[in-house]
Amino acid sequence: MLPSASPAPPVFTLAGRPLPPIVQGGMGIAVSGWRLARAVSMLGHIGIVSGTAIDMVLVRELQNGDPNGRLRVLEDYPDQAYVSWLRDTFYVEGGKAADAPYKLLPIHKFGNPTVRSQQALAAAMYTEVRLAKEGHNGLVGINLLAKVKRHTLAALLGAILADADLVVMGAGIPIEEAEALQKLAAGEAARLRLDVDGAAATDGPFYYTLDPSAVVPGYTPHPAPAFFPIVSSDALANILEKKIVPGGFAGFIVEHHTAGGHNAPPRNKGVDENQNPVYDRRDEANLAKIAAMGYPFYVAGGYGSPEALRRAWAVGAVGVQIGSLFSLCDESGYPDNYKQHLIREIHLGRAKIRTDGRASPTGFPFKVVEVAGTLGLPELQRKRTRICDLGYLQNAYLDGKGKLQGRCASEPVDDYVRKGGRAEDTDRRACLCNGLAANIGLGQQQKWGEEQTFFTGGDDLVNLPLGSAETPHYSAADVIDYLMAAPVAPVVSGDGAAVAAPELA
Ligand SMILES: Cc1cc2nc3c(=O)[nH]c(=O)nc-3n(C[C@H](O)[C@H](O)[C@H](O)COP(=O)(O)O)c2cc1C
Repeated sequence: MLPSASPAPPVFTLAGRPLPPIVQGGMGIAVSGWRLARAVSMLGHIGIVSGTAIDMVLVRELQNGDPNGRLRVLEDYPDQAYVSWLRDTFYVEGGKAADAPYKLLPIHKFGNPTVRSQQALAAAMYTEVRLAKEGHNGLVGINLLAKVKRHTLAALLGAILADADLVVMGAGIPIEEAEALQKLAAGEAARLRLDVDGAAATDGPFYYTLDPSAVVPGYTPHPAPAFFPIVSSDALANILEKKIVPGGFAGFIVEHHTAGGHNAPPRNKGVDENQNPVYDRRDEANLAKIAAMGYPFYVAGGYGSPEALRRAWAVGAVGVQIGSLFSLCDESGYPDNYKQHLIREIHLGRAKIRTDGRASPTGFPFKVVEVAGTLGLPELQRKRTRICDLGYLQNAYLDGKGKLQGRCASEPVDDYVRKGGRAEDTDRRACLCNGLAANIGLGQQQKWGEEQTFFTGGDDLVNLPLGSAETPHYSAADVIDYLMAAPVAPVVSGDGAAVAAPELA
């Protein structure tokens, strides 16, 4: 299907349609939820829902009385026995009491995952994609973090069942995932290799496996969505091209380290005195080399302006993937009062972005919004009581009996050390699971109080061109209109010559 054989300038298609210039980037947890993806998709661009922790979103929403009508969407889900269990176990008519804690799903296991955990994920992903696809024919994709291995296969299965058009995956090197996507779509069991802390080569290899027909009884083959890995360098794009199964990917998203969310670590491994990453010229992907590979690609990270869109076109990209601007628009998953607070503080010059080398337990740099009233302020983060009750970012390790278990550098330090982890690895770690759940209004009521928010955004978020301190809101359509506005300056190609911006389809 991709790329097409057309002469330059290349015209790439997906699901029979020309690829549009804007991808609304996947933003977890549920910041790019179905409402945002649907809005962007209906405007003719690509809407991406996040698959990260989507099972948690589903069961918490059911406990809030199912405000998004997910049980209705599940009426045509192929596994009605599971849907009944889900309803009986989590649905609370009218919603739980505000101060009651959410009932939790068991933490997804590494060794022998329970089919029930996989069912929760598949059903949740299904609802998210189906909601995003309702009432239009636009392109809708899902975003997953390759690093979060245990949750990938079931989320892919749910997306396949819901006819997602594409899968975008970063935070890792998704070679096996590309093959797994093909296998799952074909109804075959798939597996991903697990990295296990401290395991000797002779202990492994260790795999996480999923059999579609065990998770969704009666599963029949479906078309596979197109696969777009996220890369930070032309070198990685080259590796993926060589190692991914033939036909296993459609194109690339090339993400710069200014992007919101997790970032690739610097190639020089440089850190400053606060152990935050220091990037240099080696971290700039060679876009000309990527263009020469002949696949469609989008550029991401700091491309949230009409000039940047023209710059992207000038280097041969199909367009841009935008996160930060969409993260604060009316349709994003943050509650309105949080968005208004963030937009106001940004316009008043009171928000800062730091690229934090320690915050994420994954070890990847993570962009943190430092803004009043949130755990982005280090002094508030330090005071948070540690708990690991969601476990999405746990790493696998072998316990004394040689059994695969999970541990997270953001869990209580004593627990982490008891599980064989090093105390220094827990320093300054934040709990992304609970913080990001709080960001979308699904924060847990812990025994000691409610989990607090912890926002992320790209370096450019502080120069927000939309909304104002007086009118702290704007829509997804405003973002698109802004990006597609006529360029204010001529686009200049690499050799300094002015070039015309390509016509839009
Ligand atoms: C709030 C937020 C959450 C994000 N979460 C994810 C994520 O879960 N997975 C991912 O691949 N990228 C994530 N990103 C990155 C976006 O998909 C996108 O590539 C990036 O925001 C583009 O750069 P920009 O922030 O300068 O627009 C996130 C970005 C933001 C702002």
